[in-house]
Amino acid sequence: MRILAIESSCDETAAAVIEDGRKILSNIVDSQVETHALYGGVVPEIASRGHMEAVCRVTRQALAEAGMGQGALDAVAATCAPGLIGALLVGANFGKALAYGLGKPFIPVHHIRGHIAANYLAFPALKPPFITLVASGGHSMIVRVDDYTSFSVLGGTRDDAAGEAFDKVARVLGVGYPGGPKIDKLAQGGDPGAYKLPSSHIKDAPLDFSFSGLKTAVINLAHNAEQKGETLDRAGLAASFCRAVTETLVPRLETVVRESGLRDVSCAGGVAANSVLRTALGQMAARTGANLYLPPLSLCGDNAAMIGSQAYFEYLAGNVGTTLQNAFATADIGENICTKSERKPLVKKP
Ligand code: KG4
Ligand code: ZN
Repeated sequence: MRILAIESSCDETAAAVIEDGRKILSNIVDSQVETHALYGGVVPEIASRGHMEAVCRVTRQALAEAGMGQGALDAVAATCAPGLIGALLVGANFGKALAYGLGKPFIPVHHIRGHIAANYLAFPALKPPFITLVASGGHSMIVRVDDYTSFSVLGGTRDDAAGEAFDKVARVLGVGYPGGPKIDKLAQGGDPGAYKLPSSHIKDAPLDFSFSGLKTAVINLAHNAEQKGETLDRAGLAASFCRAVTETLVPRLETVVRESGLRDVSCAGGVAANSVLRTALGQMAARTGANLYLPPLSLCGDNAAMIGSQAYFEYLAGNVGTTLQNAFATADIGENICTKSERKPLVKKP
């Protein structure tokens, strides 16, 4: 089954053709990063307009790279939640209209389920159940993937996502946007023990965590140094921050791995590209004897290939949308985001 997938939940307009959920026939990512870098972060309205300009082009490119016409598609999928609502609506409506025009099914995909599915592309033998660490710009959680479309959230952030913290810290350190890759690079020349940063502990919820205190601590350190005229060890602070994020996530993941009885562990989302985190995950796997699946960097950030993979499994589970399918800014990973029912007719006031 060949699915054309569209991703437009944030600042990448992406299209891909995926075969049977596991094979990438094409994967086009058109990034708006340069535009948003001018503003120090994603401007939602500019993102939506950028998607409108790019969506037809990237779709044509994806079909051309796959060496097929649109008539050879079996279905069309698009990310429908969660994300920036205006941005999501562009991909969702484009995908829905294309599917309707072709007379093929439309499959709405949850963005975070898609991030997890990136692992099915990178590791064709990987099958649920397994444990995954989701760390993206908007989400940070430890998830048990019970089945391709069934998930249990075991722990997660109570406030900021890991990527959000990376982006804010990057702004304070003046390394620009997008913050994660730049902090990662800066940290490579730094001493991870240079600064002592706080770690979070949530009473009665040992698998939950928080990044807002850590983020504030870094911001205060930077501001204090500036006010006192002291030179900040920026590389040391970046390295200490990467270590603090890693030491928040990995021990909790390790607890889950040890207690779950599952041997397969993966990682998903933009922050899964972080080199300190990847090294620590490797060490965790060695300690526990777990099989670690780390997607290649090209599949960690937002892309449509992962959406096409998850779409296949949603299709097999019967999660197909209708022309009423809507997009949603928020949706739990366990929710079925298919809008199947007829919208209630508006009742006119007498
Ligand atoms: O998954 P993603 O591409 O988009 C969302 O679904 O949010 O994640 C984007 C996040 C951004 O916050 C970005 O700074 C972070 O992933 N990121 C990284 C790295 N590469 C991207 N964070 C740490 N280290 C990296 N190498
Ligand atoms: Zn994402």
